[in-house]
Amino acid sequence: MPAGTRDRLPDVPKTPRTLRTARVHPSSLTPSLASFPPPPTGSPMAQLIDGKAVAAAVRAEVAEGAAAFAEAHGRRPGLRVVLLGDNAASQSYVRAKARAADAAGIDAETLLRPADLAEADLLALIAELNADPAVDGILVQLPLPDYVDEAAVIRAIDPAKDVDGFHPENVGKLVLGEETLEPCTPAGIVEMLRRTDVETSGAHAVIVGRSNIVGKPMASLLLRRGLDCTVTVCHSRTRDLAQITRQADILVAAIGRAEFVTADMVKAGATVIDVGINRVEDATRERGYRLTGDVDFEAVSEVAGAITPVPGGVGPMTIAMLLANTLEAARRRQARSQPSG
Ligand code: GUN
Repeated sequence: MPAGTRDRLPDVPKTPRTLRTARVHPSSLTPSLASFPPPPTGSPMAQLIDGKAVAAAVRAEVAEGAAAFAEAHGRRPGLRVVLLGDNAASQSYVRAKARAADAAGIDAETLLRPADLAEADLLALIAELNADPAVDGILVQLPLPDYVDEAAVIRAIDPAKDVDGFHPENVGKLVLGEETLEPCTPAGIVEMLRRTDVETSGAHAVIVGRSNIVGKPMASLLLRRGLDCTVTVCHSRTRDLAQITRQADILVAAIGRAEFVTADMVKAGATVIDVGINRVEDATRERGYRLTGDVDFEAVSEVAGAITPVPGGVGPMTIAMLLANTLEAARRRQARSQPSG
């Protein structure tokens, strides 16, 4: 978790919702769930964990930090987002990332390249960004076209500028519990759990999905001292999946299948984090589809104690943590180039 994002946390406004919205608070105070207002008796509805509100708090802190950085060093933290091809969903994520970075006082640029860019040209672009002193963070939007060796591209990024936290050096540090740039989605989930008072110590966290982007780093983070979860990672080949997910105090759904987690898979009172963003055909919508998560939200919110919505849950946190990582990368690079004393 980047330094400087956990201290001085402002309260964020509560968003009116049908569901009760979890209170967001400075994580430095982190009381246990016992002090969290319990749901009124007889109410079946889960607390809504408002990712937009938590993300707004993180983004405000990053903006403050970025302004201080610019004042001290005469330049803004710099982020470059590289996108190959014209995948509509990727374009929309990349636009959202660049807009949010700009709003936080980060010098953000999106580098759009054709889907058939030669791998050697992509590697040359990364080398250029690695060498550019104005660039603190590099993000290559995934997935890449099939002909590109994704692992080689990730390895080519300077680990100090790897704001995704995907470089093997950074993954190794994460597993070892060393300070590093943490992958944005799992780091954002940790931040949401912290700021909405979800008790993690000794909790059984069950992660459904074993991707390098979410499942694996999520497990490493939740295992860390300070979070202290007991972690189980499940995937598409797991036997008796529902029997395992029903043991979860914290259930992270990151399997990439619309409404895969149903109410019978969830323990009463569990905290359910939905990482999925799936497009489901919906003729009643003007655009012809609706966005839904990996969790059957309506049914599961009758059982869970707390739940993240889609959209408005994990998604905004991923972007907020990208900004926090960019600021952190800028601070570390600056400190290395101007060591004090
Ligand atoms: N595609 C989906 N999520 C991510 C992410 O967190 N980082 C990158 N680079 N690509 C993604």
